[in-house]
Amino acid sequence: MSSSEHCPVIECIDLSKTFDEGPREVEVLKGFDFKVEAGERVAIVGKSGSGKTTLLNMLGGLDQPTKGWVKVAGQDFSTLNATQRGRLRNQYIGFVYQFHHLLAEFTALENVAMPFLIRGETKAVAAQAAKEILDRVGLNHREDHKPGELSGGERQRVALARALVTRPACVLADEPTGNLDSHTADSIQQLMLSLNHELAISFIIVTHDLKMASDATRIFEMEDGLLSEVSSEGPSSGQ
Ligand SMILES: Nc1ncnc2c1ncn2[C@@H]1O[C@H](COP(=O)(O)OP(=O)(O)O)[C@@H](O)[C@H]1O
Ligand SMILES: [Mg+2]
Repeated sequence: MSSSEHCPVIECIDLSKTFDEGPREVEVLKGFDFKVEAGERVAIVGKSGSGKTTLLNMLGGLDQPTKGWVKVAGQDFSTLNATQRGRLRNQYIGFVYQFHHLLAEFTALENVAMPFLIRGETKAVAAQAAKEILDRVGLNHREDHKPGELSGGERQRVALARALVTRPACVLADEPTGNLDSHTADSIQQLMLSLNHELAISFIIVTHDLKMASDATRIFEMEDGLLSEVSSEGPSSGQ
């Protein structure tokens, strides 16, 4: 029986995070609840330094809350050891960052295959899955290229393919188009939208881009350590 079927994809309860900075403590997340259901596309906006990256790190189990809980597919990270947390993350979560974080010495295909290899799949299975998703993001003709031989937009497509190759339940994207020109940003945005529809993968996207936020099904703002919903109605204004 799958316990994930009736659980939110990601849920946090009373999420709190304080960093010790020498003599000072910085209370970045001040205790809030948040959940994302299957197939949702959530945008998170907020000033620089407001705690958006900290939040994504908690949601993906890369860092641990000072207080409160994060559950992925109903499983509470705090009850798991490091190996189990890694497995939960590998199974359910994909990450996309502002800078692609691809491995320079490996080809696009090898980079995208990596999450499957980490899972312990065979090279053949990993390569097949990587080819399929690279095809889907329009980059099959670049599979043998290393990141240095790709454009910024292509690199971000590879990073998206790597996040999606395992068909995670949720992609956590931290300003994924922040480093791209507006035309390229737009094509990445359209790609994420269509993948969200086709693959029913939830997206949580931190963005400064108002257009990107307006395509979300729900928009949240991080402010003063709290996350609050700004809109559940979709776009209220264009430019
Ligand atoms: N590892 C850390 N140690 C100490 N302070 C941190 C750490 N990570 C983030 N912070 C602080 O937490 C606050 C929020 O940072 P961050 O989550 O990166 O914000 P945002 O992504 O919204 O720009 C900042 O004041 C930052 O200095
Ligand atoms: Mg950030």
